[in-house]
Formats: sequence, C-alpha cells, structure tokens
Amino acid sequence: VSDMLVDSFGRRHTYLRISLTERCNLRCHYCMPAEGVELTPSSQLLSQNEIVRLANLFVSSGVTKIRLTGGEPTIRKDFEEICLQLSNLNGLKALAVTTNGITLANKLARLKECGLGLLNISLDTLVPAKFEFMTRRKGHDRVMKSIDAAIELGYNPVKVNCVVMRGFNDDEICDFVELTRDKPINVRFIEFMPFDGNVWNVKKLVSYSEMLDIVGKKFTGLQRIQDHPTETAKNFRIDGHQGTVSFITSMTEHFCAGCNRLRLLADGNFKVCLFGPSEVSLRDPMRNGVDDSELKEIIGAAIKRKKAAHAGMFDIAKTPNRPMIHIGG
Ligand code: GTP
Ligand code: 5AD
Ligand code: SF4
Repeated sequence: VSDMLVDSFGRRHTYLRISLTERCNLRCHYCMPAEGVELTPSSQLLSQNEIVRLANLFVSSGVTKIRLTGGEPTIRKDFEEICLQLSNLNGLKALAVTTNGITLANKLARLKECGLGLLNISLDTLVPAKFEFMTRRKGHDRVMKSIDAAIELGYNPVKVNCVVMRGFNDDEICDFVELTRDKPINVRFIEFMPFDGNVWNVKKLVSYSEMLDIVGKKFTGLQRIQDHPTETAKNFRIDGHQGTVSFITSMTEHFCAGCNRLRLLADGNFKVCLFGPSEVSLRDPMRNGVDDSELKEIIGAAIKRKKAAHAGMFDIAKTPNRPMIHIGG
C-alpha cells in the first residue's frame, strides 16, 4: 500500500465512487434542470476496460470500497459485467451501488451473483403523485418493489436515501421513519445541497437539528448509535424498530474531517471532493499511453491538493461545480 491515497491532512482515501454514466431514467429537480444537461459524447466516456484499469490501480493502492453511481448506473448496458470485474479485484472488500431503483427489482438477483454487496436506493416521497412531480417521470411503485426485492434477497440494511426539501417532503419524515418499524432498512434523511442547475434555495433546506426534533418528538425511543469516523451519516436506532434512521448533514454539520472519498466521473475526470471545481482528467493521459506509475503520480498529486473542507459553508452555493447528475453524489 503506497501513500498515494493520503492527503496533506493525513486522511486516507479508501473509498472510490465511480460514476458510470451521465444519463438517467428520471429527471429529479434537485439533481438537474428541466432541460436536462449537456451530455459528453460517448467516445469521451470511459470504456469498461478503462474503468477496470483505473479501479484496479486504485484498489492495488489501498482502496477497499467502490460505489457505482451516475446518472443512473444500472442503465449502462455493461453494468453486470462491470460489477463482475470489479468485485473480483484483489483487495476490494465492498462493491456498492447508489441507484434510483427504477429498473432494479428484476435485475437484482443476478447483480448479487456478480458481487454487488451494498445497496443504497434513492426515494424522496411515499406519495406517487409527488414522486411524479419531483422526478418528472412515473415509477414510484417500481422503486417500492425494488426495496422489497432487496430485502427479500437479504441485503441488510437496504439504505434508503431521502433528500429532504421544505414544502415538498418535510411532512413525510415520520412516515419514512415508520417504515423502519418492520423493515430492515436504514432510512437516511439528507440535507438538500446546492449544485449547478438544481434550484437550491436556503429556504428549502431542512436542517439536521430541525429533522431530529421532528423525529424525536414522535419517536421517543430514539437513540444515537456509534458511526464510523469516515461515514457520511449520523445514525440512530429506535426501540422496537428493525431498521435504523440516519441523517446526512453536509450543510449544517459537515463531516469533511473524516473524509475518505474520491470520485471518478463518467468522462474520466478525477475529483477529490464533492464540492469545489478542482478536477483532473485520467482519461486523457490514459489514452495518450501513460503507464500505471505515471497515472499514480497524477492521482497522488491531486489528492495532495485536496482542501480541508468544502461542505458546510453556505457559499458552496456560489462556487462553480457540475450538476449533481454528472458527479453522482
Ligand atoms: P455509504 O457508503 O453507504 O455510507 O453511502 P454514502 O453516503 O457514502 O453514499 P450515497 O451515494 O448513498 O450518498 C448519500 C448522500 O451523501 C448523498 O446526498 C451524497 O451526495 C452524500 N455524500 C456522499 N459522499 C459525500 C461527501 O464526500 N461529502 C458530502 N458532503 N456528501 C457526500
Ligand atoms: N442534495 C442532497 N442529496 C442529493 N442527491 C442528489 N441530489 C442531491 C442534492 N441536491 C442524492 C440522491 C442520491 C445520492 C447519490 O445523492 O438522492 O441518493
Ligand atoms: Fe437520476 Fe439520481 Fe439524479 Fe434523480 S438524483 S435525476 S435519480 S441521478
């Protein structure tokens, strides 16, 4: 294990998020503008071989967890094959995906065989009509089916990501918590974050303390449980509930000090922080024929330039970034 993954603050980056595509079968307001986003020509997106080469390089340098994101990662034609190849990398302990669950239910058994071990499914409302409004598409019932299919297949917990927005779904927080009573799911309430083109507004942000207050009033057996120092979530259990509840507090209580995350975007750009405009292409040097040691130098140098923190400050709304659909969360 080299120190390529350690930044100038001593943080070791062992978690790589790979965005597989810029496309999605939904059009969520908080992720992209109504007109969609400009798509990178497909010849400039990473091929399966390029993804596997880079993943292998990261894993051999000490990355132990890879999460596949997008866009919607499962719509990529070679998704199964990519899962299979990545899950076989020597040294990788966890292969995860974050998906909207639209087309997951009937693919999941096969994906599990391909080594997909951890599953986060995005769901922001329990009301089908609100789902249609937020995603500008239909499919609420399919997401619910995917969550149940995942439970059925033994994923435990299935993480359910819920971005909370005032006036949209803040009235559903307790309904989401209620789901954890009989299902082995981890419902994660996420503070709404600003990205290019996503109609962020501080008035729509429901803070961690406000959400905790809402949940604590209704569910009096709420207890904080220990989370891992590198985790994005603050975790809680409730007496008598099978599942758990968490909060991802990027805006009001950021967790940058424990950050272990790196990002590879679908166009081959490498991003050391979710926020902040700094990106470096790994695709171009790769296509110009550099060897692995030169790639490692480029990666290591980018990690060394990583800032102490980006999240948490409300002026990130003014810092140029990409739309969420390009970054993958
Ligand atoms: P686990 O690996 O299961 O812990 O999931 P995760 O929280 O790392 O990833 P997921 O894709 O489920 O993202 C959940 C929320 O956390 C999304 O809103 C992400 O944008 C946010 N998130 C993920 N990584 C980071 C990060 O490095 N910084 C910040 N501020 N938010 C992040
Ligand atoms: N703020 C917070 N979370 C977001 N996500 C997408 N856009 C935003 C945003 N603006 C979430 C998705 C998905 C995860 C990758 O990021 O719901 O679960
Ligand atoms: Fe698609 Fe996820 Fe973005 Fe929604 S948040 S448009 S499901 S990538």
